[in-house]
Amino acid sequence: MNHTEERLPGRKDRCNLTDYEQERRTFDWQEIEKTFSWHETGKVNIAYESIDRHALSDKGDKIALRYSDPTRQSSYTFEEMRKKTNQAGQVFRKLGLKKGDRLFVFMPRSPECYFALLGAIKIGAIVGPLFEAFMETAVRDRLQDSGAAAIVTTPELLHRVPVSELPELKHVILVGEDLKLEDHQTDLIAEMSQASEKLEIEWVDREDGMLLHYTSGSTGKPKGVYHVHNAMIQHYYTGKIVLDLQEEDVYWCTADPGWVTGTSYGIFAPWLNGVTNVVRGGRFSPQDWYDTLQSQEITVWYSAPTAFRMLMGAGNDIVSQYDLSKVRHILSVGEPLNPEVIRWGMQVYKQRIHDTWWMTETGAQLICNYPSMDMKPGSMGKPIPGVEAAIIDDQGNELPPYRMGNLAIRTPWPSMMRKIWNNPGKYQEYFYLSGWYISGDSAYQDEEGYFFFQGRIDDVINTSGERVGPFEVESKLVEHPAIAEAGVIGKPDPVRGEIIKAFISLRKGYEPSEELIQEIRAFVKEGLSAHAAPREIEFKEKLPKTRSGKIMRRVLKAWELDLPTGDLSTIED
Ligand code: WT7
Repeated sequence: MNHTEERLPGRKDRCNLTDYEQERRTFDWQEIEKTFSWHETGKVNIAYESIDRHALSDKGDKIALRYSDPTRQSSYTFEEMRKKTNQAGQVFRKLGLKKGDRLFVFMPRSPECYFALLGAIKIGAIVGPLFEAFMETAVRDRLQDSGAAAIVTTPELLHRVPVSELPELKHVILVGEDLKLEDHQTDLIAEMSQASEKLEIEWVDREDGMLLHYTSGSTGKPKGVYHVHNAMIQHYYTGKIVLDLQEEDVYWCTADPGWVTGTSYGIFAPWLNGVTNVVRGGRFSPQDWYDTLQSQEITVWYSAPTAFRMLMGAGNDIVSQYDLSKVRHILSVGEPLNPEVIRWGMQVYKQRIHDTWWMTETGAQLICNYPSMDMKPGSMGKPIPGVEAAIIDDQGNELPPYRMGNLAIRTPWPSMMRKIWNNPGKYQEYFYLSGWYISGDSAYQDEEGYFFFQGRIDDVINTSGERVGPFEVESKLVEHPAIAEAGVIGKPDPVRGEIIKAFISLRKGYEPSEELIQEIRAFVKEGLSAHAAPREIEFKEKLPKTRSGKIMRRVLKAWELDLPTGDLSTIED
Protein backbone atom coordinates (compact mmCIF):
# COMPACT_ATOMS: atom_id res chain seq x y z
CA MET A 1 0.00 0.00 0.00
CA ASN A 2 1.13 3.49 -0.76
CA HIS A 3 0.65 4.75 2.78
CA THR A 4 3.02 7.55 3.55
CA GLU A 5 4.10 9.49 6.59
CA GLU A 6 4.87 12.47 4.39
CA ARG A 7 2.79 15.46 5.43
CA LEU A 8 2.37 18.84 3.82
CA PRO A 9 0.89 21.31 6.29
CA GLY A 10 -2.28 23.25 5.48
CA ARG A 11 -2.33 26.99 4.92
CA LYS A 12 -2.86 29.24 7.87
CA ASP A 13 -3.76 32.37 5.92
CA ARG A 14 -7.13 33.47 4.64
CA CYS A 15 -9.21 30.70 3.13
CA ASN A 16 -12.94 30.04 3.18
CA LEU A 17 -12.73 26.87 5.25
CA THR A 18 -10.41 27.35 8.19
CA ASP A 19 -11.30 24.34 10.31
CA TYR A 20 -12.42 21.22 8.48
CA GLU A 21 -13.20 19.12 11.57
CA GLN A 22 -15.21 21.91 13.16
CA GLU A 23 -17.22 22.50 9.96
CA ARG A 24 -17.95 18.77 9.68
CA ARG A 25 -19.37 18.67 13.17
CA THR A 26 -21.72 21.62 12.77
CA PHE A 27 -22.55 21.35 9.09
CA ASP A 28 -26.10 21.61 7.75
CA TRP A 29 -26.97 21.66 4.03
CA GLN A 30 -30.04 23.75 4.81
CA GLU A 31 -27.83 26.62 5.84
CA ILE A 32 -26.14 26.54 2.42
CA GLU A 33 -29.52 26.58 0.66
CA LYS A 34 -30.21 30.03 2.08
CA THR A 35 -27.74 31.45 -0.44
CA PHE A 36 -30.28 30.99 -3.19
CA SER A 37 -33.45 32.86 -3.96
CA TRP A 38 -35.47 29.66 -4.13
CA HIS A 39 -35.23 29.47 -0.43
CA GLU A 40 -38.22 31.80 -0.61
CA THR A 41 -39.97 30.76 -3.80
CA GLY A 42 -39.50 27.01 -3.82
CA LYS A 43 -38.86 27.22 -7.57
CA VAL A 44 -35.41 27.28 -9.08
CA ASN A 45 -33.24 27.52 -12.12
CA ILE A 46 -29.53 26.84 -11.79
CA ALA A 47 -28.77 29.12 -14.75
CA TYR A 48 -30.55 32.00 -13.04
CA GLU A 49 -28.66 31.40 -9.82
CA SER A 50 -25.36 31.22 -11.72
CA ILE A 51 -25.76 34.29 -13.91
CA ASP A 52 -28.85 36.45 -13.37
CA ARG A 53 -28.62 36.57 -9.59
CA HIS A 54 -25.23 38.31 -9.93
CA ALA A 55 -26.21 40.37 -12.98
CA LEU A 56 -29.14 41.78 -11.02
CA SER A 57 -27.03 42.51 -7.96
CA ASP A 58 -24.13 44.95 -7.79
CA LYS A 59 -22.00 42.50 -9.78
CA GLY A 60 -23.59 43.23 -13.16
CA ASP A 61 -20.43 44.82 -14.54
CA LYS A 62 -18.07 42.21 -13.24
CA ILE A 63 -16.46 39.98 -15.87
CA ALA A 64 -18.09 36.55 -15.76
CA LEU A 65 -16.48 34.88 -18.78
CA ARG A 66 -13.07 35.52 -20.25
CA TYR A 67 -12.70 33.43 -23.34
CA SER A 68 -9.54 32.99 -25.37
CA ASP A 69 -8.16 30.71 -28.04
CA PRO A 70 -5.41 31.30 -30.61
CA THR A 71 -7.85 33.23 -32.85
CA ARG A 72 -10.32 34.88 -30.52
CA GLN A 73 -10.46 36.76 -27.25
CA SER A 74 -13.63 38.05 -25.70
CA SER A 75 -15.05 38.89 -22.30
CA TYR A 76 -18.60 39.09 -21.03
CA THR A 77 -19.90 40.62 -17.83
CA PHE A 78 -22.57 38.90 -15.77
CA GLU A 79 -25.10 41.31 -17.28
CA GLU A 80 -23.92 40.50 -20.81
CA MET A 81 -24.04 36.81 -20.01
CA ARG A 82 -27.57 37.24 -18.71
CA LYS A 83 -28.66 38.81 -21.99
CA LYS A 84 -26.83 36.34 -24.21
CA THR A 85 -28.20 33.34 -22.39
CA ASN A 86 -31.67 34.92 -22.49
CA GLN A 87 -31.36 35.32 -26.25
CA ALA A 88 -30.22 31.74 -26.69
CA GLY A 89 -33.18 30.66 -24.56
CA GLN A 90 -35.48 32.74 -26.78
CA VAL A 91 -34.18 31.04 -29.91
CA PHE A 92 -34.70 27.57 -28.43
CA ARG A 93 -38.17 28.43 -27.18
CA LYS A 94 -39.19 29.87 -30.54
CA LEU A 95 -38.33 26.51 -32.07
CA GLY A 96 -40.82 24.95 -29.71
CA LEU A 97 -38.28 23.46 -27.36
CA LYS A 98 -39.52 23.26 -23.80
CA LYS A 99 -39.05 21.93 -20.31
CA GLY A 100 -37.74 18.37 -20.22
CA ASP A 101 -36.66 18.25 -23.88
CA ARG A 102 -33.17 16.91 -24.43
CA LEU A 103 -30.95 19.38 -26.24
CA PHE A 104 -27.36 18.46 -27.07
CA VAL A 105 -24.46 20.83 -27.40
CA PHE A 106 -21.77 19.36 -29.61
CA MET A 107 -19.11 21.91 -30.39
CA PRO A 108 -15.68 23.13 -29.38
CA ARG A 109 -15.44 25.54 -26.50
CA SER A 110 -16.45 29.07 -27.45
CA PRO A 111 -18.63 31.73 -25.80
CA GLU A 112 -21.58 30.48 -27.86
CA CYS A 113 -21.14 27.02 -26.40
CA TYR A 114 -21.70 28.49 -22.93
CA PHE A 115 -24.60 30.71 -24.06
CA ALA A 116 -26.27 27.64 -25.55
CA LEU A 117 -25.75 25.44 -22.51
CA LEU A 118 -27.12 28.00 -20.08
CA GLY A 119 -29.82 29.30 -22.44
CA ALA A 120 -31.17 25.78 -22.80
CA ILE A 121 -31.21 25.27 -19.04
CA LYS A 122 -33.04 28.58 -18.66
CA ILE A 123 -35.98 27.22 -20.68
CA GLY A 124 -35.98 24.04 -18.59
CA ALA A 125 -34.38 21.80 -21.20
CA ILE A 126 -32.04 18.97 -20.23
CA VAL A 127 -28.66 19.60 -21.79
CA GLY A 128 -26.45 16.83 -23.12
CA PRO A 129 -22.95 18.23 -23.63
CA LEU A 130 -20.86 16.25 -26.12
CA PHE A 131 -17.11 16.46 -26.42
CA GLU A 132 -16.11 17.72 -29.87
CA ALA A 133 -13.92 14.66 -30.57
CA PHE A 134 -16.88 12.29 -30.67
CA MET A 135 -17.45 10.57 -33.97
CA GLU A 136 -20.64 9.45 -35.60
CA THR A 137 -21.32 6.25 -33.65
CA ALA A 138 -20.75 7.94 -30.31
CA VAL A 139 -22.98 10.87 -31.26
CA ARG A 140 -25.73 8.62 -32.59
CA ASP A 141 -25.75 6.34 -29.53
CA ARG A 142 -26.19 9.29 -27.19
CA LEU A 143 -28.82 11.15 -29.19
CA GLN A 144 -30.78 7.98 -29.80
CA ASP A 145 -30.71 6.81 -26.22
CA SER A 146 -31.93 10.15 -24.92
CA GLY A 147 -34.42 10.87 -27.71
CA ALA A 148 -32.83 14.25 -28.28
CA ALA A 149 -35.05 16.91 -29.83
CA ALA A 150 -32.30 19.32 -30.85
CA ILE A 151 -28.58 19.65 -31.22
CA VAL A 152 -26.41 22.74 -31.27
CA THR A 153 -23.32 22.12 -33.37
CA THR A 154 -20.98 23.65 -35.94
CA PRO A 155 -20.88 23.18 -39.72
CA GLU A 156 -17.54 21.36 -39.28
CA LEU A 157 -19.05 18.75 -36.94
CA LEU A 158 -22.38 18.39 -38.68
CA HIS A 159 -21.35 15.38 -40.77
CA ARG A 160 -21.00 13.38 -37.56
CA VAL A 161 -24.66 13.89 -36.70
CA PRO A 162 -26.54 11.11 -38.54
CA VAL A 163 -29.78 13.06 -38.81
CA SER A 164 -31.56 10.44 -40.95
CA GLU A 165 -31.13 7.87 -38.17
CA LEU A 166 -32.54 10.18 -35.53
CA PRO A 167 -36.28 10.55 -36.12
CA GLU A 168 -36.81 12.41 -32.83
CA LEU A 169 -34.25 15.08 -33.68
CA LYS A 170 -36.31 18.05 -34.87
CA HIS A 171 -33.75 20.82 -34.95
CA VAL A 172 -30.14 21.27 -35.91
CA ILE A 173 -28.95 24.60 -34.57
CA LEU A 174 -25.72 25.76 -36.15
CA VAL A 175 -23.01 28.04 -34.85
CA GLY A 176 -20.87 29.43 -37.65
CA GLU A 177 -20.45 32.12 -40.24
CA ASP A 178 -22.13 32.49 -43.65
CA LEU A 179 -24.33 29.48 -43.08
CA LYS A 180 -26.38 28.00 -45.88
CA LEU A 181 -29.29 26.56 -44.02
CA GLU A 182 -31.22 23.48 -44.96
CA ASP A 183 -34.57 22.25 -43.65
CA HIS A 184 -34.77 22.02 -39.86
CA GLN A 185 -31.63 24.07 -39.46
CA THR A 186 -31.28 27.30 -37.49
CA ASP A 187 -28.51 29.89 -37.38
CA LEU A 188 -28.00 30.45 -33.66
CA ILE A 189 -25.95 33.63 -33.86
CA ALA A 190 -28.23 35.29 -36.40
CA GLU A 191 -31.36 34.34 -34.49
CA MET A 192 -29.88 35.45 -31.19
CA SER A 193 -29.10 38.86 -32.59
CA GLN A 194 -32.79 39.26 -33.49
CA ALA A 195 -34.08 37.88 -30.22
CA SER A 196 -35.22 39.81 -27.19
CA GLU A 197 -32.74 40.19 -24.36
CA LYS A 198 -35.51 39.41 -21.94
CA LEU A 199 -36.65 35.91 -21.19
CA GLU A 200 -39.30 34.39 -18.95
CA ILE A 201 -37.15 31.86 -17.20
CA GLU A 202 -38.68 28.44 -16.76
CA TRP A 203 -38.91 28.04 -13.00
CA VAL A 204 -38.59 24.39 -12.17
CA ASP A 205 -38.53 22.12 -9.14
CA ARG A 206 -35.25 21.35 -7.46
CA GLU A 207 -35.61 17.78 -8.59
CA ASP A 208 -36.16 18.64 -12.27
CA GLY A 209 -33.45 17.62 -14.72
CA MET A 210 -30.85 19.95 -16.21
CA LEU A 211 -27.96 17.81 -17.47
CA LEU A 212 -27.38 14.45 -19.06
CA HIS A 213 -23.73 13.39 -19.06
CA TYR A 214 -23.01 10.17 -20.88
CA THR A 215 -20.29 8.07 -19.33
CA SER A 216 -18.89 4.58 -19.76
CA GLY A 217 -19.25 1.47 -17.68
CA SER A 218 -17.58 -1.88 -18.19
CA THR A 219 -20.57 -3.37 -19.98
CA GLY A 220 -23.16 -2.00 -22.37
CA LYS A 221 -23.41 1.30 -24.15
CA PRO A 222 -22.59 4.57 -22.43
CA LYS A 223 -25.12 5.51 -19.81
CA GLY A 224 -26.88 8.84 -19.50
CA VAL A 225 -26.21 10.19 -16.03
CA TYR A 226 -29.06 12.52 -15.13
CA HIS A 227 -28.51 15.53 -12.89
CA VAL A 228 -31.03 17.93 -11.42
CA HIS A 229 -31.07 21.61 -10.53
CA ASN A 230 -30.66 20.78 -6.84
CA ALA A 231 -26.99 19.96 -7.55
CA MET A 232 -26.30 23.68 -7.34
CA ILE A 233 -26.15 23.51 -3.54
CA GLN A 234 -23.09 21.30 -3.72
CA HIS A 235 -21.56 23.04 -6.75
CA TYR A 236 -21.74 26.26 -4.84
CA TYR A 237 -20.51 24.88 -1.54
CA THR A 238 -17.55 22.93 -2.92
CA GLY A 239 -16.68 25.96 -5.06
CA LYS A 240 -16.45 27.84 -1.80
CA ILE A 241 -14.58 25.39 0.43
CA VAL A 242 -12.63 23.21 -2.03
CA LEU A 243 -11.85 25.61 -4.87
CA ASP A 244 -11.72 28.26 -2.14
CA LEU A 245 -13.24 30.79 -4.53
CA GLN A 246 -13.17 34.37 -3.29
CA GLU A 247 -14.44 37.63 -4.71
CA GLU A 248 -11.25 38.66 -6.52
CA ASP A 249 -10.36 35.28 -7.95
CA VAL A 250 -9.74 34.56 -11.60
CA TYR A 251 -10.49 30.91 -11.99
CA TRP A 252 -9.49 28.48 -14.72
CA CYS A 253 -10.81 24.95 -15.07
CA THR A 254 -9.07 23.24 -17.97
CA ALA A 255 -11.84 20.70 -18.64
CA ASP A 256 -14.25 20.78 -21.57
CA PRO A 257 -17.99 20.90 -20.76
CA GLY A 258 -18.29 17.59 -22.62
CA TRP A 259 -17.04 16.06 -19.36
CA VAL A 260 -18.66 16.61 -16.01
CA THR A 261 -15.70 18.56 -14.62
CA GLY A 262 -16.28 21.09 -17.38
CA THR A 263 -19.89 21.68 -16.32
CA SER A 264 -19.89 21.29 -12.52
CA TYR A 265 -16.57 23.11 -12.17
CA GLY A 266 -16.24 24.86 -15.54
CA ILE A 267 -19.66 26.54 -15.33
CA PHE A 268 -21.62 26.14 -12.13
CA ALA A 269 -19.18 26.25 -9.21
CA PRO A 270 -17.39 29.41 -10.39
CA TRP A 271 -20.52 31.28 -11.46
CA LEU A 272 -22.63 30.27 -8.49
CA ASN A 273 -19.80 31.84 -6.51
CA GLY A 274 -19.81 34.91 -8.74
CA VAL A 275 -16.17 34.78 -9.82
CA THR A 276 -14.48 35.49 -13.14
CA ASN A 277 -14.25 32.26 -15.11
CA VAL A 278 -11.55 31.79 -17.75
CA VAL A 279 -12.18 29.45 -20.66
CA ARG A 280 -9.37 28.60 -22.97
CA GLY A 281 -10.16 26.92 -26.29
CA GLY A 282 -7.71 25.01 -28.43
CA ARG A 283 -5.37 22.18 -27.58
CA PHE A 284 -2.92 21.52 -24.78
CA SER A 285 0.62 22.80 -24.99
CA PRO A 286 2.83 23.66 -22.02
CA GLN A 287 3.64 27.08 -23.51
CA ASP A 288 0.00 28.00 -24.11
CA TRP A 289 -1.05 26.82 -20.70
CA TYR A 290 1.64 28.73 -18.85
CA ASP A 291 0.91 31.71 -21.03
CA THR A 292 -2.76 31.47 -20.03
CA LEU A 293 -1.86 31.31 -16.33
CA GLN A 294 0.40 34.33 -16.69
CA SER A 295 -1.53 36.59 -19.06
CA GLN A 296 -4.96 35.95 -17.57
CA GLU A 297 -3.53 36.29 -14.07
CA ILE A 298 -5.16 33.07 -12.95
CA THR A 299 -5.44 32.67 -9.20
CA VAL A 300 -7.24 29.32 -8.90
CA TRP A 301 -6.42 26.52 -11.32
CA TYR A 302 -8.25 23.18 -11.61
CA SER A 303 -6.72 20.56 -13.89
CA ALA A 304 -5.89 16.86 -14.14
CA PRO A 305 -2.98 14.53 -13.34
CA THR A 306 -2.22 13.79 -16.99
CA ALA A 307 -1.83 17.50 -17.67
CA PHE A 308 0.41 17.95 -14.63
CA ARG A 309 2.52 14.97 -15.70
CA MET A 310 2.89 16.43 -19.18
CA LEU A 311 3.87 19.78 -17.71
CA MET A 312 6.37 17.97 -15.51
CA GLY A 313 7.69 16.23 -18.61
CA ALA A 314 8.13 19.58 -20.33
CA GLY A 315 10.79 20.41 -17.76
CA ASN A 316 11.36 23.00 -15.06
CA ASP A 317 13.11 25.56 -17.27
CA ILE A 318 9.95 26.45 -19.08
CA VAL A 319 8.18 27.25 -15.79
CA SER A 320 10.79 29.87 -14.92
CA GLN A 321 10.05 31.72 -18.16
CA TYR A 322 6.61 32.66 -16.88
CA ASP A 323 5.33 34.73 -14.01
CA LEU A 324 2.94 32.45 -12.19
CA SER A 325 2.98 34.44 -8.98
CA LYS A 326 -0.77 35.12 -9.05
CA VAL A 327 -1.63 31.42 -8.82
CA ARG A 328 -2.61 30.76 -5.22
CA HIS A 329 -4.52 27.49 -5.34
CA ILE A 330 -4.10 24.43 -7.58
CA LEU A 331 -6.39 21.40 -7.78
CA SER A 332 -6.56 18.12 -9.64
CA VAL A 333 -9.18 15.52 -10.51
CA GLY A 334 -9.84 12.50 -12.67
CA GLU A 335 -7.15 9.97 -11.84
CA PRO A 336 -4.71 9.22 -9.07
CA LEU A 337 -2.44 12.19 -8.44
CA ASN A 338 1.04 10.78 -7.93
CA PRO A 339 2.92 11.96 -4.83
CA GLU A 340 5.83 12.61 -7.19
CA VAL A 341 3.75 15.18 -9.07
CA ILE A 342 2.81 16.89 -5.82
CA ARG A 343 6.50 17.05 -4.82
CA TRP A 344 7.34 18.49 -8.22
CA GLY A 345 4.55 21.05 -7.80
CA MET A 346 6.03 22.11 -4.47
CA GLN A 347 9.29 22.70 -6.25
CA VAL A 348 8.14 24.62 -9.33
CA TYR A 349 4.82 26.19 -8.28
CA LYS A 350 5.91 26.54 -4.65
CA GLN A 351 2.59 25.14 -3.47
CA ARG A 352 0.53 22.01 -3.09
CA ILE A 353 -1.60 20.49 -5.81
CA HIS A 354 -4.88 19.48 -4.14
CA ASP A 355 -6.32 16.17 -5.20
CA THR A 356 -10.12 15.85 -5.37
CA TRP A 357 -12.16 12.71 -5.94
CA TRP A 358 -15.59 12.40 -7.48
CA MET A 359 -17.33 10.92 -10.52
CA THR A 360 -19.78 11.81 -13.26
CA GLU A 361 -22.44 10.07 -11.17
CA THR A 362 -21.69 12.03 -8.01
CA GLY A 363 -22.19 15.36 -9.78
CA ALA A 364 -19.71 17.18 -7.58
CA GLN A 365 -16.63 16.73 -5.45
CA LEU A 366 -16.95 14.32 -2.53
CA ILE A 367 -13.49 13.52 -1.16
CA CYS A 368 -11.00 16.35 -1.21
CA ASN A 369 -7.94 18.06 0.12
CA TYR A 370 -8.74 21.48 1.55
CA PRO A 371 -6.31 24.40 1.57
CA SER A 372 -6.27 24.61 5.35
CA MET A 373 -5.98 20.85 5.97
CA ASP A 374 -2.72 18.92 6.17
CA MET A 375 -2.13 16.88 3.04
CA LYS A 376 -0.73 13.39 2.75
CA PRO A 377 0.59 13.02 -0.79
CA GLY A 378 -1.10 10.01 -2.37
CA SER A 379 -4.35 10.61 -0.51
CA MET A 380 -7.53 11.98 -2.10
CA GLY A 381 -8.28 13.66 1.22
CA LYS A 382 -11.42 13.50 3.33
CA PRO A 383 -15.15 13.71 2.56
CA ILE A 384 -16.68 17.15 2.29
CA PRO A 385 -18.72 18.27 5.30
CA GLY A 386 -22.25 16.90 4.97
CA VAL A 387 -21.07 13.72 3.28
CA GLU A 388 -20.14 10.38 4.79
CA ALA A 389 -17.73 8.10 2.95
CA ALA A 390 -16.56 4.66 4.01
CA ILE A 391 -14.70 1.58 2.93
CA ILE A 392 -17.07 -1.38 2.97
CA ASP A 393 -16.89 -5.03 2.03
CA ASP A 394 -19.27 -6.70 -0.41
CA GLN A 395 -21.78 -7.31 2.38
CA GLY A 396 -21.85 -3.68 3.44
CA ASN A 397 -19.68 -3.99 6.57
CA GLU A 398 -17.47 -1.02 7.24
CA LEU A 399 -13.81 -1.97 7.22
CA PRO A 400 -11.17 -0.78 9.67
CA PRO A 401 -8.22 1.44 8.68
CA TYR A 402 -5.83 0.13 6.02
CA ARG A 403 -8.23 -2.57 4.82
CA MET A 404 -8.94 -2.24 1.13
CA GLY A 405 -12.55 -2.39 -0.01
CA ASN A 406 -15.35 -0.64 -1.89
CA LEU A 407 -15.27 3.12 -1.71
CA ALA A 408 -18.85 3.92 -0.78
CA ILE A 409 -20.85 7.07 -0.06
CA ARG A 410 -23.85 7.27 2.26
CA THR A 411 -26.91 8.28 0.23
CA PRO A 412 -28.11 10.85 -0.60
CA TRP A 413 -26.17 14.06 -1.18
CA PRO A 414 -27.36 17.15 -3.07
CA SER A 415 -25.63 16.62 -6.43
CA MET A 416 -26.10 12.86 -6.69
CA MET A 417 -27.38 11.63 -10.06
CA ARG A 418 -31.11 10.98 -9.91
CA LYS A 419 -31.30 8.34 -12.63
CA ILE A 420 -29.63 6.68 -15.55
CA TRP A 421 -31.64 7.73 -18.55
CA ASN A 422 -33.88 4.96 -19.82
CA ASN A 423 -32.20 2.40 -17.61
CA PRO A 424 -33.50 1.99 -14.05
CA GLY A 425 -31.69 -1.35 -13.77
CA LYS A 426 -28.30 0.25 -14.33
CA TYR A 427 -29.15 2.90 -11.77
CA GLN A 428 -30.01 0.30 -9.16
CA GLU A 429 -26.66 -1.42 -9.65
CA TYR A 430 -24.94 1.44 -7.83
CA PHE A 431 -27.10 0.95 -4.75
CA TYR A 432 -27.06 -2.79 -4.20
CA LEU A 433 -26.03 -2.35 -0.59
CA SER A 434 -28.81 -0.49 1.12
CA GLY A 435 -27.95 3.04 2.21
CA TRP A 436 -24.79 3.24 0.13
CA TYR A 437 -23.71 4.39 -3.29
CA ILE A 438 -21.02 1.97 -4.50
CA SER A 439 -18.50 3.88 -6.55
CA GLY A 440 -16.75 1.00 -8.33
CA ASP A 441 -13.43 2.26 -6.97
CA SER A 442 -11.42 0.44 -4.35
CA ALA A 443 -9.66 2.38 -1.64
CA TYR A 444 -8.62 2.32 1.98
CA GLN A 445 -8.66 4.81 4.80
CA ASP A 446 -5.87 5.49 7.26
CA GLU A 447 -6.42 5.91 10.98
CA GLU A 448 -6.81 9.68 10.59
CA GLY A 449 -9.61 9.29 8.04
CA TYR A 450 -7.63 10.11 4.91
CA PHE A 451 -8.75 8.11 1.85
CA PHE A 452 -6.29 6.42 -0.51
CA PHE A 453 -7.36 5.35 -3.99
CA GLN A 454 -6.32 1.86 -5.08
CA GLY A 455 -7.98 1.19 -8.41
CA ARG A 456 -11.18 0.40 -10.26
CA ILE A 457 -13.06 -2.74 -9.28
CA ASP A 458 -14.48 -3.19 -12.78
CA ASP A 459 -12.73 -3.05 -16.15
CA VAL A 460 -13.36 0.63 -16.83
CA ILE A 461 -10.31 2.32 -18.32
CA ASN A 462 -9.08 5.74 -17.24
CA THR A 463 -6.88 7.19 -19.96
CA SER A 464 -5.69 10.77 -19.46
CA GLY A 465 -8.52 11.23 -16.99
CA GLU A 466 -11.11 10.19 -19.53
CA ARG A 467 -13.28 7.24 -18.80
CA VAL A 468 -13.51 4.63 -21.55
CA GLY A 469 -15.68 1.54 -21.43
CA PRO A 470 -13.84 -1.47 -22.86
CA PHE A 471 -17.11 -2.83 -24.22
CA GLU A 472 -17.67 0.24 -26.39
CA VAL A 473 -14.23 -0.10 -27.94
CA GLU A 474 -14.58 -3.86 -28.37
CA SER A 475 -17.93 -3.41 -30.09
CA LYS A 476 -16.42 -0.95 -32.52
CA LEU A 477 -13.41 -3.18 -33.16
CA VAL A 478 -15.49 -6.20 -34.13
CA GLU A 479 -17.28 -4.10 -36.73
CA HIS A 480 -14.00 -4.09 -38.63
CA PRO A 481 -14.05 -6.75 -41.38
CA ALA A 482 -10.69 -8.22 -40.35
CA ILE A 483 -11.57 -8.69 -36.69
CA ALA A 484 -13.16 -11.81 -35.26
CA GLU A 485 -12.86 -10.99 -31.58
CA ALA A 486 -11.45 -8.23 -29.46
CA GLY A 487 -10.67 -7.72 -25.79
CA VAL A 488 -9.68 -4.31 -24.47
CA ILE A 489 -7.86 -3.41 -21.27
CA GLY A 490 -6.16 -0.44 -19.64
CA LYS A 491 -2.39 -0.79 -19.54
CA PRO A 492 -0.51 1.30 -16.96
CA ASP A 493 1.28 4.26 -18.52
CA PRO A 494 3.55 6.77 -16.80
CA VAL A 495 1.98 9.85 -18.42
CA ARG A 496 -1.59 8.93 -19.30
CA GLY A 497 -2.31 6.80 -16.24
CA GLU A 498 -3.53 4.05 -18.52
CA ILE A 499 -3.50 3.54 -22.25
CA ILE A 500 -5.94 1.43 -24.19
CA LYS A 501 -4.58 -1.89 -25.34
CA ALA A 502 -6.56 -4.21 -27.61
CA PHE A 503 -6.06 -7.93 -28.03
CA ILE A 504 -7.43 -9.03 -31.35
CA SER A 505 -8.03 -12.30 -33.09
CA LEU A 506 -8.37 -12.02 -36.85
CA ARG A 507 -10.87 -13.60 -39.18
CA LYS A 508 -9.76 -16.24 -41.61
CA GLY A 509 -7.91 -14.76 -44.55
CA TYR A 510 -6.37 -11.84 -42.61
CA GLU A 511 -2.78 -11.64 -41.45
CA PRO A 512 -1.33 -9.36 -38.76
CA SER A 513 0.60 -6.40 -40.15
CA GLU A 514 1.65 -2.87 -39.25
CA GLU A 515 -0.73 -1.51 -41.92
CA LEU A 516 -3.61 -3.41 -40.40
CA ILE A 517 -2.78 -2.01 -36.97
CA GLN A 518 -2.85 1.53 -38.35
CA GLU A 519 -6.06 0.82 -40.20
CA ILE A 520 -7.76 -0.56 -37.09
CA ARG A 521 -6.69 2.40 -35.00
CA ALA A 522 -8.02 4.82 -37.61
CA PHE A 523 -11.23 2.81 -37.75
CA VAL A 524 -11.93 3.31 -34.03
CA LYS A 525 -10.80 6.90 -34.19
CA GLU A 526 -13.17 7.66 -37.04
CA GLY A 527 -16.02 5.61 -35.65
CA LEU A 528 -15.89 6.39 -31.96
CA SER A 529 -13.40 9.04 -30.94
CA ALA A 530 -9.67 9.64 -30.84
CA HIS A 531 -9.31 9.01 -27.11
CA ALA A 532 -11.00 5.60 -27.46
CA ALA A 533 -8.60 4.32 -30.13
CA PRO A 534 -6.22 1.63 -28.83
CA ARG A 535 -2.64 2.85 -28.62
CA GLU A 536 -1.44 -0.72 -28.60
CA ILE A 537 -2.75 -3.68 -30.54
CA GLU A 538 -1.64 -7.25 -30.11
CA PHE A 539 -2.83 -10.10 -32.30
CA LYS A 540 -3.70 -13.46 -30.75
CA GLU A 541 -4.85 -16.72 -32.28
CA LYS A 542 -7.57 -16.97 -29.67
CA LEU A 543 -8.82 -14.85 -26.79
CA PRO A 544 -9.55 -16.22 -23.31
CA LYS A 545 -13.30 -16.54 -22.86
CA THR A 546 -15.73 -17.85 -20.29
CA ARG A 547 -17.96 -20.72 -21.25
CA SER A 548 -20.74 -18.22 -21.70
CA GLY A 549 -18.59 -16.49 -24.29
CA LYS A 550 -17.50 -13.40 -22.32
CA ILE A 551 -13.97 -12.23 -23.03
CA MET A 552 -11.96 -12.49 -19.80
CA ARG A 553 -10.27 -9.12 -19.62
CA ARG A 554 -8.76 -10.05 -16.30
CA VAL A 555 -6.73 -12.76 -18.04
CA LEU A 556 -5.65 -10.33 -20.76
CA LYS A 557 -4.52 -7.96 -18.07
CA ALA A 558 -2.60 -10.72 -16.29
CA TRP A 559 -0.85 -11.59 -19.57
CA GLU A 560 0.03 -7.99 -20.10
CA LEU A 561 1.38 -7.40 -16.62
CA ASP A 562 2.96 -10.81 -16.21
CA LEU A 563 0.73 -11.61 -13.28
CA PRO A 564 -0.83 -14.90 -12.27
CA THR A 565 -4.09 -15.40 -14.20
CA GLY A 566 -6.05 -16.43 -11.12
CA ASP A 567 -9.09 -18.65 -11.14
CA LEU A 568 -9.63 -20.05 -14.63
CA SER A 569 -12.47 -22.41 -13.75
CA THR A 570 -14.93 -20.62 -16.00
CA ILE A 571 -12.63 -20.51 -19.02
CA GLU A 572 -13.84 -22.05 -22.28
CA ASP A 573 -11.17 -24.69 -22.82
C1 WT7 B 1 -13.53 7.86 -12.03
C2 WT7 B 1 -14.67 8.75 -12.41
C3 WT7 B 1 -15.51 13.68 -12.08
C4 WT7 B 1 -14.11 13.86 -12.32
C5 WT7 B 1 -13.61 13.41 -13.65
C6 WT7 B 1 -13.65 11.92 -13.84
C7 WT7 B 1 -11.38 8.15 -11.22
C8 WT7 B 1 -11.59 10.51 -10.31
C9 WT7 B 1 -9.90 10.59 -8.97
C10 WT7 B 1 -8.86 10.85 -8.04
C11 WT7 B 1 -8.09 8.66 -8.36
C12 WT7 B 1 -9.94 9.31 -9.56
C13 WT7 B 1 -12.10 7.12 -10.37
C14 WT7 B 1 -13.56 7.46 -10.58
N1 WT7 B 1 -11.00 9.30 -10.40
N2 WT7 B 1 -10.93 11.30 -9.47
N3 WT7 B 1 -8.75 12.03 -7.44
N4 WT7 B 1 -7.97 9.85 -7.75
N5 WT7 B 1 -9.03 8.35 -9.25
O1 WT7 B 1 -14.98 11.51 -13.84
O2 WT7 B 1 -15.11 10.11 -15.91
O3 WT7 B 1 -16.84 9.93 -14.10
O4 WT7 B 1 -14.52 9.05 -13.78
O5 WT7 B 1 -12.30 8.55 -12.21
O6 WT7 B 1 -11.83 5.84 -10.85
O7 WT7 B 1 -14.43 6.38 -10.35
P1 WT7 B 1 -15.42 10.15 -14.47
